[in-house]
Amino acid sequence: MASIFRERVLTVHHWTDRQFSFTTTRDPSFRFLNGQFTMIGIEVEGKPLLRAYSMVSANYEEHLEFLSIKVPDGPLTSRLQHLDVGDAVLVNSKTVGTLILQNLLPGKTLYMLSTGTGLAPFMSVIKDPETYDHFEKIVLVHGCREISELAYDRVITDELPHNKFFGEQVKGKLIYYPTVTREAFRHQGRVTKLLDSGKLPADIGLPPLDIQRDRVMICGSPEMLKDAKELLLKRGYREGHMESPGHFVIERAFVEK
Ligand code: A2P
Repeated sequence: MASIFRERVLTVHHWTDRQFSFTTTRDPSFRFLNGQFTMIGIEVEGKPLLRAYSMVSANYEEHLEFLSIKVPDGPLTSRLQHLDVGDAVLVNSKTVGTLILQNLLPGKTLYMLSTGTGLAPFMSVIKDPETYDHFEKIVLVHGCREISELAYDRVITDELPHNKFFGEQVKGKLIYYPTVTREAFRHQGRVTKLLDSGKLPADIGLPPLDIQRDRVMICGSPEMLKDAKELLLKRGYREGHMESPGHFVIERAFVEK
């Protein structure tokens, strides 16, 4: 039976006026696989108002972390964005999601394609030592409108490579590819186009996408998922699900309001 934990906000970080993240306490009995999501939220007029959020924190971390958009008239995020240290956050004990290693067939390179807050589940996947055991290269692609929206870029480039347990594997295997679409940056363009055209693999010194070698996890807006899925299907890729591993897996970056 699922239950709802009442956690406390520990920290809040506002990345931009459209995006923020926060950490909370974690009930010791809360369990999940890296890449999964759960329903979280707050109480509004005595009732829980919950939406699906992926865990940014890895399953061995003491606290929980979530990344959220802010929508001025969104039922949940218009309220959630005003969270302060000490406030209560409701967290459902039931965790689910397809962006987990066991849903993918074996491969050499793992591409994680994300836009906006779709980055969230991949943060826990790249903090999972098992990810590095499964793949030779792990390519984390994050597409945003602007540079300031490239959340956790410092964690990815500065902190993880120095992790005392798996830092060496991060250094040897993780390739971070941030790209923006609405201002000048070292990588520019939509993640889907960059992958489809072969520019992205070429930029990082890898061969074009290949079904024998490359596996893909995708998390972003519904339009981005549609385009990404299309480019994989046309290459013969098959979608993986629970109990039926495939060449790629998909999850939407849920909260749009
Ligand atoms: P663009 O600026 O060309 O719309 P948002 O903040 O609206 O969720 O967008 C996040 C990023 O996702 C932006 O860089 C945006 O590019 C990009 N994007 C939007 N639609 C798609 C799509 N269909 N495929 C790939 N990327 C997309």
